[in-house]
Amino acid sequence: MTQDLRLTVAAAMERARVRTALLTDAVDDDDLVRQHSPIMSPLVWDLAHLGNQEELWLVRDVGGREPVRQDIDELYDAFKHARKDRPGLPLLDPAEARRYVAQVRDKALDVLDHVRLDDRRLVADGFAFGMIVQHEQQHDETMLATHQLRTGAPVLTAPEPPAARNTVSGEVLVPGGSFTMGTDTEPWALDNERPSVAVDVPAFYIDVAPVTNAQYAAFIAAGGYDEPRWWSERGWAHRQEAGLVAPMHWQRDGDGWSYTRFGRTRRVIRDEPVVHVSYFEAEAYATWAGRRLPTEAEWEKAARHDPATGRSRRFPWGDGSPEPRHANLGQRHLAPAPVGAYPDGASPYGVHQLMGDVWEWTSSGFHPYPGFTVFPYAEYSQVFFGGDYKVLRGGSFGTDEAAVRGTFRNWDHPIRRQIFSGFRCARDAGPDES
Ligand code: AVJ
Ligand code: FE
Repeated sequence: MTQDLRLTVAAAMERARVRTALLTDAVDDDDLVRQHSPIMSPLVWDLAHLGNQEELWLVRDVGGREPVRQDIDELYDAFKHARKDRPGLPLLDPAEARRYVAQVRDKALDVLDHVRLDDRRLVADGFAFGMIVQHEQQHDETMLATHQLRTGAPVLTAPEPPAARNTVSGEVLVPGGSFTMGTDTEPWALDNERPSVAVDVPAFYIDVAPVTNAQYAAFIAAGGYDEPRWWSERGWAHRQEAGLVAPMHWQRDGDGWSYTRFGRTRRVIRDEPVVHVSYFEAEAYATWAGRRLPTEAEWEKAARHDPATGRSRRFPWGDGSPEPRHANLGQRHLAPAPVGAYPDGASPYGVHQLMGDVWEWTSSGFHPYPGFTVFPYAEYSQVFFGGDYKVLRGGSFGTDEAAVRGTFRNWDHPIRRQIFSGFRCARDAGPDES
């Protein structure tokens, strides 16, 4: 078991690093140090930051080793400098950053070889290593979002996502009743996913697929962006101030729309889930459609609850790790797949594409579950609880399988849409329908 776990951990660390290298080697040094948007870091900051977190947790804390570089901790502390200020810092240059992350990685792998994986809670089941793998993959997704914001010739390529295998539309009823939300057993689950809790969810209907570009374009064509009645008060104020007229990266193209994705422009694909919408846009669409966004508990029940056994699965399709046939994850493709492309990934209730493709906005704020305890540091989750955030679930095409599962919780400000965010709708069911 111990040797197996070491091999699993080392493979996950290597996979993350291959992706980091792909994202940072794709552009020249000038591009790495440039800021492509004030809400994003220069790529070279993400690179050294993920190495610095690995040094702090694996080399120094778990390994008890001497610092690789103590002088740079402050530069790469996300709480010390806002993203907009990071290009002005005396950052490691690209060559130094690459050397630094490689040195840290050598030491971290040496720590992995020598640590007893069972002697502290931090290292039990390889947790600290899993946390650092997830952190690197999260920053890789952030770097992918930065790639989407950069201008210039395309530098990333990947095969097209699979075509739809069947027609998937409409909604399903999820009967009322209790289900198990969160986890006590998922080894690499982060603190905000714990502990598990029984939640009674009244009956509701939820869409079997995310909202598509065609559906979203109908909302635009119906004047959705010009009608305050579909928007919340804050949402409308933001729509006005930011001048929103369509999802980010959409442009008018004759009587339709085109979309620029990683430097390539093409017509929007009708049955692809809409992506790059803010919470406020998702909320307005849902109101226009006579629906609402699902709560976080509804989303997780639709994704994990198995009415046949009464237990919650790790993933919609079961307890097995994601395979390519289940979900569009891991940057294998550079786009969401059309709805109906992943029938093998459907949940027991027949809800499709909950994992991968697009992060899905829920109507819930980011709060701790009852019985939450900080582990291992307050700055991952706790400092964000109760802030101006909405929870997103399920991961996107740019999320690695190491960094998502049925219990995984992401969060962001309701105005954000540079992330790979989409949504699906829900509605109440009457008590007689449960
Ligand atoms: C959980 C995705 C909101 O990227 O801000 C990265 C993850 N935390 N470094 C983020 C994270 C610290 C976090 N999200
Ligand atoms: Fe980070």
